Amino acid sequence: MEAADIPMWIVDKVVHQGAEATVTSGSWMGKSAVLKMRRPRGYRTPHLDRKLTRQRLTVEARALGRLQYHELSAPSIIDLDLEQGWILMSKIEGITLFDYLNNKNNLVSEKIKSFGVIIRKLHEIGISHGDLTTHNVLIDSEGNLSLIDFGLAKIFPEVEHLGLDLQVLNECLTASHSEYENAVEDMVAGYLSADSEKEDLISAPEVISRFNEIRGRVRYHA
Ligand SMILES: Nc1ncnc2c1ncn2[C@@H]1O[C@H](COP(=O)(O)OP(=O)(O)O)[C@@H](O)[C@H]1O
Ligand SMILES: [Mg+2]
Repeated sequence: MEAADIPMWIVDKVVHQGAEATVTSGSWMGKSAVLKMRRPRGYRTPHLDRKLTRQRLTVEARALGRLQYHELSAPSIIDLDLEQGWILMSKIEGITLFDYLNNKNNLVSEKIKSFGVIIRKLHEIGISHGDLTTHNVLIDSEGNLSLIDFGLAKIFPEVEHLGLDLQVLNECLTASHSEYENAVEDMVAGYLSADSEKEDLISAPEVISRFNEIRGRVRYHA
């Protein structure tokens, strides 16, 4: 479909061409916005493809709504169309944490610690992210972190999903940011420090112990 069909949306440029989605930036009623449009995958049957698109957009919208409600920094939803496969959201001005870690040397340890804090907050509001790499965190000019890309998220996750979030990030930090030797320890320290110790939540130490178990499993099979 043509991006021009979306009410009030004026497209500017493509910012990301991923395997599953194309992200363009532009404006909506004068405000900076981004449009994430899912691309049909030829190798899937059209029926399955549409079903997956609907599922991922639905969970993305649901997760963003919850983050906004709980005042965690993330894009706000403007509009979406499940059939056409797009979601329009506010634009976060900034760079990915991936680029930040690769380009600058200052405050890296603190930044990764605050990322750990945000992951814990996300888990405490009942969401696992599902693809927690440094490409899915944006950092603005004031150093604030915002989470994005919730198409693989789970609402009311189990401890395994929470542990897996940390393992995905661990693999990303090891593979792409190996010069920061203590990155994983910093992330874990931030995560533990943000435990609100509310009784009905899966506690931070429980998640960390599951994470360590998953790490062990992976190592054992490697
Ligand atoms: N709300 C946003 N504000 C600014 N940039 C964004 C926003 N959403 C996505 N992007 C940019 O587009 C990229 C891809 O978006 P993402 O939601 O992660 O899609 P994908 O599923 O293809 O990874 C991000 O890494 C980021 O650079
Ligand atoms: Mg992404």
